[in-house]
Amino acid sequence: MTAIPEQRILLIIGGGIAAYKTLDLIRRLRERGFFVRAVMTESAQRFVTKLAVESLTGSRVFDDLFALTEDSSMGHIELSRDADLLVVAPATADIIAKMAHGLANDLASTMLLATDKKILVAPAMNLRMWLHPATQRNAAILQNDGVVFAGPENGGMACGEYGPGRMSEPLAILAAIEQVLASGTRIPLPADFSGNQEAADVLAGRRVLVTSGPTREPIDPVRYIANRSSGKQGHAIAAAAAAASADVVLVSGPVALADPLGIRTIHVETARDMVRQVEAALPVDIFVGVAAVADWRVAETAPEKIKKDPKQEACLTLVENPDILAALGRRSKDRPALVVGFAAESEELVENAQAKLTAKNCDMIVANDVSRASGVLGGENNKVLILTKNGKESWPWMTKQEVARRLVARLAAMLAETGR
Ligand code: C5P
Repeated sequence: MTAIPEQRILLIIGGGIAAYKTLDLIRRLRERGFFVRAVMTESAQRFVTKLAVESLTGSRVFDDLFALTEDSSMGHIELSRDADLLVVAPATADIIAKMAHGLANDLASTMLLATDKKILVAPAMNLRMWLHPATQRNAAILQNDGVVFAGPENGGMACGEYGPGRMSEPLAILAAIEQVLASGTRIPLPADFSGNQEAADVLAGRRVLVTSGPTREPIDPVRYIANRSSGKQGHAIAAAAAAASADVVLVSGPVALADPLGIRTIHVETARDMVRQVEAALPVDIFVGVAAVADWRVAETAPEKIKKDPKQEACLTLVENPDILAALGRRSKDRPALVVGFAAESEELVENAQAKLTAKNCDMIVANDVSRASGVLGGENNKVLILTKNGKESWPWMTKQEVARRLVARLAAMLAETGR
């Protein structure tokens, strides 16, 4: 991984058991070349020690609102002014509530109120606390204020329960941090992203349309058919295209991700909604269909919740959904200069991807293995095979952000070759 020099993170550590994962986050941030300064709440220090945080950040931990006024070298305004981004991890229900209501009664909450920098929060709490209407209201206020959320994830908790409220893994938070910084302050892209400037030269002002996430096909007012797509790869591609100066529209199915900053994101639910929004966004220079569009929908959505009937087997009639990618690939009017599809396969990757390249008249198919064993669906990393009319190329395992950056560089080069 290449370091991105001089990015400064002010990390606010809240009081929760997930604070132990924050230690790993610090380590990973440092590995990437970030400078990390930490503020700990009083309760955070019950879970991890100041010494551990100081050892890992390599700098003094701040925890006392009043001590700062004596230390003229680092007042609290200066602490947040000095940072490029404030990260709250773990963000407890208490910190989220304070932020939403503008309370400032300790150093952490004062920092968060006194800043004009972007803030990313990684919530961590018991699922009932997260799902409580008060917390949901507070989170909505913060989202409306432009605070970026990384997580929480579904999973087992330290308290033995299962559900939403688990802090995202350090690598996921790291990816979210990089995404926020990339879209805001235009940090230099990592050196291993060859052709970044060339990509920006080609893509400046060009329109890129990306679909992402799953679609949901209703069975009745309560139930639906969907799939395990998280939207992470599609959102990363949209963010990378925007970082390379493209004018990006993202059409996303239901995902648990924040909208990438600076990108027009249109939320849809069904495949048919997605088709409508994709067509409305045309013409574009590049279309990248990353969404895991449901192949079928229920022929007739029941108007009321379907009741169980012990005397009869339940039976759903499925009809095929429109194929957005194929429709764009085969368009005679307004066909994007580049039409790119994803092939999520659990077997015979190359053969199936090759068949799709031809059948859907694409310029490129990005094939990945989505068998449960690969961990790609919902995970942070991806291993892709790139197929074009000129041949195929296998890329090593890398983060979905890396795949996105390289893919955008490749597409920019291909677009330049088309001369359009
Ligand atoms: O045929 P398959 O679903 O495997 O193809 C995957 C590719 O086709 C993805 O790029 C996906 O976005 C696109 N697709 C689509 N509309 C569908 C089904 C798939 O655009 N109804």
